[in-house]
Amino acid sequence: MADLAIIGGTGLTSLKGLEIIRKEVVHTPYGEPSGPLVHGLLAGKEVIFLPRHGAAHTIPPHRINYRANIWALKLMEVKRVVAVAAVGGIGAEAHPSAIVIPDQIIDYTWSRTSTFFDENLTQVTHVDFTYPYCAKLRKMLVDSGREINIDLSDRGVYGATQGPRLETAAEINRLAHDGCTLVGMTGMPEAALARELDLSYACCAVVANWAAGRGDGSEITMAEIERHLKSGMEKVRHLLEHLVPKL
Ligand code: HPA
Repeated sequence: MADLAIIGGTGLTSLKGLEIIRKEVVHTPYGEPSGPLVHGLLAGKEVIFLPRHGAAHTIPPHRINYRANIWALKLMEVKRVVAVAAVGGIGAEAHPSAIVIPDQIIDYTWSRTSTFFDENLTQVTHVDFTYPYCAKLRKMLVDSGREINIDLSDRGVYGATQGPRLETAAEINRLAHDGCTLVGMTGMPEAALARELDLSYACCAVVANWAAGRGDGSEITMAEIERHLKSGMEKVRHLLEHLVPKL
């Protein structure tokens, strides 16, 4: 049985090195996940892989069924979830193709269904979210990266925006003023839902571009994003292959 699930983001719709055992279609009370769960062996260990945007990368951030995805992974009885996510870099250390393991989140998304504790409750429930990511899993990611000499940043504040458009330069200035060092569109409500189901969840962010108005301030192109993600995701693959046998 798999202990770990990996949610792949933009640039990671399939996991090279994953020896696929089977694909499983899972239905949940919240609807359909982004696609079949991929059961496979990574570095000899069973893991479950789920591409967040669908196998063909067709589901935009605001349309992802985050509840179905997290519920499906819980049904599989995984204990840990590593969420790989493409982000824009705001802080100086978050340069394109850098890897960052964030430790905090600010949520700017809206109108997304963001809780399992919604209807037909026997009791109103508020989960603690002071530290939104699992400290133990974060440390494992950081240590694994460092052990194989991947240059990574061990903290960051992930600003979750609604998308699918990129931000304005003024919006990024506001995020920076709030303390965000990264910006992405899928970090929430995913992290909160994982906490509600008591899953150990951490994010491995890959910087795809300087956020709007940062860097040399030029326009952000998909070609640039793809180029940086390619090199960043290679590092993530190595990191995961090093992490998995230690679990
Ligand atoms: N903003 C939001 N999400 C992103 C970005 C960005 O600049 N790059 C990759 N995902």
